[in-house]
Amino acid sequence: MRPRCFSSVFIVPAPSSRHITEEAVNTLGFARRKAARDPISMVTCYDFWSAQVLNGTDVDCLLVGDSLAMVMHGFDSTVQATVEIMALHAAAVRRGAPDKYIVGDMPFLSMRKGRGFAMDSVQALMQTGVNAIKVEGEAGQTELTAHIVESGVPVMGHLGLTPQSVQAFGGHKVQGRNEGQAGRILDSARKLEAAGCFALVLECVPQKLARRITEELSIPTIGIGAGPDTDGQVLVLQDMLGMNPDFKPRFLRHYADGHGLIHDAVDHFAEETRSGAFPAAAESYG
Ligand code: KIV
Repeated sequence: MRPRCFSSVFIVPAPSSRHITEEAVNTLGFARRKAARDPISMVTCYDFWSAQVLNGTDVDCLLVGDSLAMVMHGFDSTVQATVEIMALHAAAVRRGAPDKYIVGDMPFLSMRKGRGFAMDSVQALMQTGVNAIKVEGEAGQTELTAHIVESGVPVMGHLGLTPQSVQAFGGHKVQGRNEGQAGRILDSARKLEAAGCFALVLECVPQKLARRITEELSIPTIGIGAGPDTDGQVLVLQDMLGMNPDFKPRFLRHYADGHGLIHDAVDHFAEETRSGAFPAAAESYG
């Protein structure tokens, strides 16, 4: 198959999945999970090698989040992510995780430059082999969101602290603390459900608001910093692996000391190289 070109980036079509979950075949699997009170787990994934690891885990869903601009590229916000960057990472994740349900993030302003640009962006992401896209916000783009759904593309919504709007929020702050804000988020959640979103990420909102939205909506909510009452949870992989021990916001749990593990392993290798303990005869060719 010929690679397809979006702007300057060539994307090789994804390999077909060998064994795919029910969710990947039918996004309605998410609704069933909510009805069965069967919590959905999602982690971010940005590259081929971690996708290979995650492909063998029990996690339900991988998110090629635009947080990769910060985590993988060292930018100070997600604003720097572009469609080309997202598509390059999404294609790598699909190659590494052929069995997983994968959601790709629509990056900064990709929903705000007209329908043509938005649909080209959706096409570029979907052609990497992801199963669905995620869109931040609702205001001013409800009809476009419905149009994407009507075009046969499953859409996950994202409300609360939507990081692409970090400048408007004046920083990464909990959203929906006051009644006005909470009402607007609830209203947007209803509109996204009506537009056809199959799930909704709620980021950094008070537990009470997340519970209210979760109870009212028939689509599942997936929380990050939204308390225990959502229908699922999502974390950034590198955050939950403790790759940056100093990054420990209230909502985050470190499931490993990833930083320590890599640091110690590399120090061990350096030390054995210096001492001559590595490589041994068994690690050398005769
Ligand atoms: O980009 C991302 O990682 C996200 C999650 C935090 C939900 O949108």
